[in-house]
Amino acid sequence: MAIKSEMQPDYVLSELEKEVLKNAMLSILADPYRQYKSFCYQVEELIRKGKIPAGFLKALNELSLREKVSYPFVFIKNLPIDENVPKFDNENPIQSKYQLKKTFIAEGCLYLIGKVLNQIPIGYLNVNGGDVFQDIYPQRSLKDTQSQKALGPIFFHKDLANHFVRPDFVNMLSMRSHGENEIYTTFVKNIDVINSFSEFEIERLRQAKFHTPFDDLTTKAGSYDVGEASLHPIISDDYDIRYFENRTKGIDEEAQQLVELVKSRLHELKSCVQMVAGDFIGVANNYSVHGKEVGALQFPELAWERWTMKTVNVSSIEPYRDKMVAGSDYLIQG
Ligand SMILES: [Fe+2]
Repeated sequence: MAIKSEMQPDYVLSELEKEVLKNAMLSILADPYRQYKSFCYQVEELIRKGKIPAGFLKALNELSLREKVSYPFVFIKNLPIDENVPKFDNENPIQSKYQLKKTFIAEGCLYLIGKVLNQIPIGYLNVNGGDVFQDIYPQRSLKDTQSQKALGPIFFHKDLANHFVRPDFVNMLSMRSHGENEIYTTFVKNIDVINSFSEFEIERLRQAKFHTPFDDLTTKAGSYDVGEASLHPIISDDYDIRYFENRTKGIDEEAQQLVELVKSRLHELKSCVQMVAGDFIGVANNYSVHGKEVGALQFPELAWERWTMKTVNVSSIEPYRDKMVAGSDYLIQG
């Protein structure tokens, strides 16, 4: 079966580059879950010492300068990842990962790419105990939620839209997927959605007549009370879209009609990618929305093993200093 990819890659590593990068990452001694700062330092040392393939580094530097409204996605293929990692326990995939994953190639690639793209990864105290490197991996107790631990589809959204620290970037690196299972990551540019509406409609989409409950992972798995979400517009600033498909509701009939209209527009304009191991896709969270769609599954059991690592990143931590856990420069209290 052909792998579906409706987005063009920005860079494809050669087999040699992949090997060089893999060996560079294997030389790191720090554990990213237990010695995070030292792990970051060692990845940065690889850049300083010229251990990262030059062509790849150059491409990343160029991508870091690219305008993000029209180009909110970065797509890189054939990255090295940790291979032959055993299947995690779906009861508690995070604990299982700590026990079973002994190399940190993927974490190194995620940190490296974010670093060169001028992004700073952050962790949330309420999400996976504050880990920077997170997993999109099905967890039995959360399988029907709209979270990274879901088994089924995740409707169109931007990450942590109504959190007080909203990430500027969401980076995903596919670790394991099965080509016979039609599971797609979906992407839409905000500018395309906005351009598809009339001025009259946009004016109404800019009114605070919509409500979206807080996301599942913040409210169900965490311990820090974030309170109740307030009314918001769907379109704000120049290109921001705050919308969670099937969760955002209009407060009156006109607003609700617009909610439905946004939904159909997103599905008309989307690009679907069946991510395969070694695919990296980074999204500018304020200029795009994304989701996950599930089509026909030839091997439904294998959907329980599908695995994508992710980080959420900001452009600068300065605006959030007072939101950090005291003494930390990456961990958000919330
Ligand atoms: Fe997401």
